[in-house]
Amino acid sequence: MNINPRSRTWFRLAALYFAIGVVLGVVMGASGDHSLFAVHAHINLLGWVSMALFGLIGTVHPAMNEGRVATAQYWMYNLGVPVMLGALTLRLKGFAAVEPLIGAASILVGCSVLLYAWLVFSRIAITAERLRSTTGESSLS
Ligand code: HEM
Ligand code: HEM
Repeated sequence: MNINPRSRTWFRLAALYFAIGVVLGVVMGASGDHSLFAVHAHINLLGWVSMALFGLIGTVHPAMNEGRVATAQYWMYNLGVPVMLGALTLRLKGFAAVEPLIGAASILVGCSVLLYAWLVFSRIAITAERLRSTTGESSLS
């Protein structure tokens, strides 16, 4: 099975988040300080689990990775998730001023997920070739 470049990037990002999430889990377990457990949970779930699913679904249905909506979804997610989790870390360490940033970034992630839902409904049943021929959108533009 061919892995397209966007799915390959999702897999690499997923593995990166997995490594960071599990290291944080081990540090929490070893230190007894669980104050960042919500960061750990969302690194693993928004990062490792969701990104691996984006990669797998994009491998099985390459049309999901094509065109401007998919590119917008990709960048919104990859900007929103690290900003949200970085700001949440600061918030949990006492920097209350970052709260609006958590809100803004989580809205960005939410919008990215809405775009993803739109992609699932509109593209899951069509091939990448047919998408290109009907919309003229080029691969990963
Ligand atoms: C060696 C790997 C891991 C270690 C040592 C670890 C450790 C921990 C620790 C210490 C907590 C805090 C528990 C608490 O204070 O209530 C926690 C919570 C959590 N972990 Fe992990 N974790 C690991 C891997 C994972 C993975 C792979 C996932 C998801 C795919 C995950 C998802 C969660 C979730 C969702 C919570 C929050 C649970 C709750 O609501 O209480 N963890 N983990
Ligand atoms: C923009 C996206 C998301 C936002 C803003 C968000 C926000 C939150 C908030 C505010 C809590 C309560 C935290 C607390 O009481 O300490 C929470 C808990 C939780 N969320 Fe999310 N969430 C998001 C996405 C997800 C996703 C995609 C998953 C699973 C795939 C998930 C799984 C969980 C779990 C397991 C908990 C309980 C553990 C914890 O408190 O950290 N969340 N989330």
